Amino acid sequence: MQSETRLKMLDAFTGAGDSYLSGQYLAELIGCSRTAVWKHIEELRKEGFELEAVRKKGYRIVKTPDKMTADEIRLGLTTKFIGRNLHYEESAESTQKIAHQLAAQDAPEGTVILAEEQTAGKGRMNRQWHSPKYTGIWMSLILRPNIQLTKAPQLTLLTAVAVVQAMEEMTGLIPEIKWPNDILINGKKVTGILTELQAEADRIHSIIIGIGINVNQKLDDFPIELQQTASSLFIEKGQTISRSSLIRSIFKHFETLYLLYLEKGFFPIKLLWEGYAVSIGKILKARTLTNVIEGKALGITDEGVLKLEDLNGNIHYVYSADIEL
Ligand code: BTN
Repeated sequence: MQSETRLKMLDAFTGAGDSYLSGQYLAELIGCSRTAVWKHIEELRKEGFELEAVRKKGYRIVKTPDKMTADEIRLGLTTKFIGRNLHYEESAESTQKIAHQLAAQDAPEGTVILAEEQTAGKGRMNRQWHSPKYTGIWMSLILRPNIQLTKAPQLTLLTAVAVVQAMEEMTGLIPEIKWPNDILINGKKVTGILTELQAEADRIHSIIIGIGINVNQKLDDFPIELQQTASSLFIEKGQTISRSSLIRSIFKHFETLYLLYLEKGFFPIKLLWEGYAVSIGKILKARTLTNVIEGKALGITDEGVLKLEDLNGNIHYVYSADIEL
């Protein structure tokens, strides 16, 4: 956890933009001594921030490290609650696991757990998720919406829209969504989303959304068996992408969509999702845990469930499956 003083200081620098903040001003704002301000500034320097100090003017941040630490993400963060409570780990088995523990301990809505690497990253359908160090975004988000259990899949679709919007903003690339939650660029998977619940009877205690984004991997960073199907933003764009800027952008888009969803329901999100979807209108194979259905994807229901018409004209509602286009 970051100290309260550090958070206030980073928020002050965020608000100041290119202007200088004096030591005196920071001390008064934060309610600490100037020596404490100086101590925090030195710690930021050690983390790789470059701070310019000008006599009679004060300090400003001129360069941020290319890291994903909580401090680096906090600087420039404009959300009200998404990502404001941030847990950063150099290495974790799975951020989902930590999120479950924190959710059970009443962590506030919007809490995010980020790891530089995962040693046992979890994918959908009990698969592993390859999560090497310093190249991707591996994070889990805790939500506590007051919605029925059956509506939980809608939040997976909402997350996919937020991630796509942020990727477009940061890279100019045009990602597509493959139902329910794979994000593809040029037909290759760059992002997976895993939604898990803590619930009892029909009441949701918390929803934990795990997001895995391949950001700066090169092709040979992927295991051989993934090289045909997976890609990264770096491979598709041909340049390194700042992970912390992308994370802030995801938080911003997510918060806007989530507040819209809580106020107006799923319909506006569904429209946005459909605009990015590749699978709709196509003949595809849906491979569930128990069988395979081949047919035309007619669309998604208001619950976010895939509606398929098989080759005999029967309609199927698919809640969870792997899709082959
Ligand atoms: C998929 O199979 O497509 C979903 C992959 C989800 C991976 C993310 S990475 C962060 C979070 N922690 C995990 O262990 N898994 C999710």
